[in-house]
Amino acid sequence: MNPVTMPLGKDLVGLEGLDAQQITMILDTAEPFKEISERRIKKVPVLRGKTIVNLFFEPSTRTRVSFEFAEKRLSADTVNISSTGSSVTKGETLVDTARNLEAMKIDMVVMRHGSSGAARFLAERIPSMVVNAGDGRHEHPTQALLDLLTIRDHLGRLEGLKVCIVGDVLHSRVARSNIFGLRALGAQVAVCGPRTLLPVGIEDMGVRVFGRVEAAMEWADVLNVLRLQLERMEGGFVPSLREYNRIYGVSRARLEAAGRDILILHPGPMNRGVEIDSDVADGPHSVILNQVTNGVAVRMAVLYLLAGGAPDKAEAAKRGSDA
Ligand code: CP
Repeated sequence: MNPVTMPLGKDLVGLEGLDAQQITMILDTAEPFKEISERRIKKVPVLRGKTIVNLFFEPSTRTRVSFEFAEKRLSADTVNISSTGSSVTKGETLVDTARNLEAMKIDMVVMRHGSSGAARFLAERIPSMVVNAGDGRHEHPTQALLDLLTIRDHLGRLEGLKVCIVGDVLHSRVARSNIFGLRALGAQVAVCGPRTLLPVGIEDMGVRVFGRVEAAMEWADVLNVLRLQLERMEGGFVPSLREYNRIYGVSRARLEAAGRDILILHPGPMNRGVEIDSDVADGPHSVILNQVTNGVAVRMAVLYLLAGGAPDKAEAAKRGSDA
């Protein structure tokens, strides 16, 4: 493998194992791609001739749409498949589904799946490149990358920053990818939430644990507030949503009491009035919609790099010159 033209390998399954140089390269590659989405004609020929299948076995708004925008703005041909509209409902396996898609000569699969490990399982079985768009509780690498880019945009760096991930860490692939990415780039990472929503042994990932959100907010430069994943809970994790909001909710009163300029992120979708109050989500500390905007550029960068684009040629590629 040529380390310059194939710096990420065939697939992007997770941020675990990527080093600071590789992650920084993705973020730096995303920078020139941001401008494409500001143009009147949002299209460059970078992935012309490539065929990408977006295979979504779980619901998604932000990830699915922004991958599709990223692909279309890079001129790839795209096909969207959801489990409900496919032969998966008739019992066809993931591998059979992918092999049939391969038979139609595709180049890349972007997949969201409810099972942890599904992305790697597929990547090891098909020659096409695989991008993980979220697999179970395992990883959501492009979400973490867009979170990192958004923090870097607003605070100018990641190294040395204190970032606390608040809420339902137990069910969160976003938390895991953020922990890997942030730590690789030299940030200090903490988690905060009720013990029932923190994985046993989370400290072994090199993170600090806060039991009280007030203490976390006195410490942190950045809060990444996670959604309570009610669809993955069968009761018993929190006494009630009102109680959760009272004890762990990120509210304006708590922000004011912390007395610090804390950057507020949330991967979405939000449960307003549960993990985050509307006046924080829509307030001056929030960069939640900046995250969404950055999602398109980050996904363009990942697709470009996996397809063999050179990191130092991204600027030329977006102008339509040879990459
Ligand atoms: N952040 C995120 O993954 O959102 P979606 O589920 O809408 O894609």
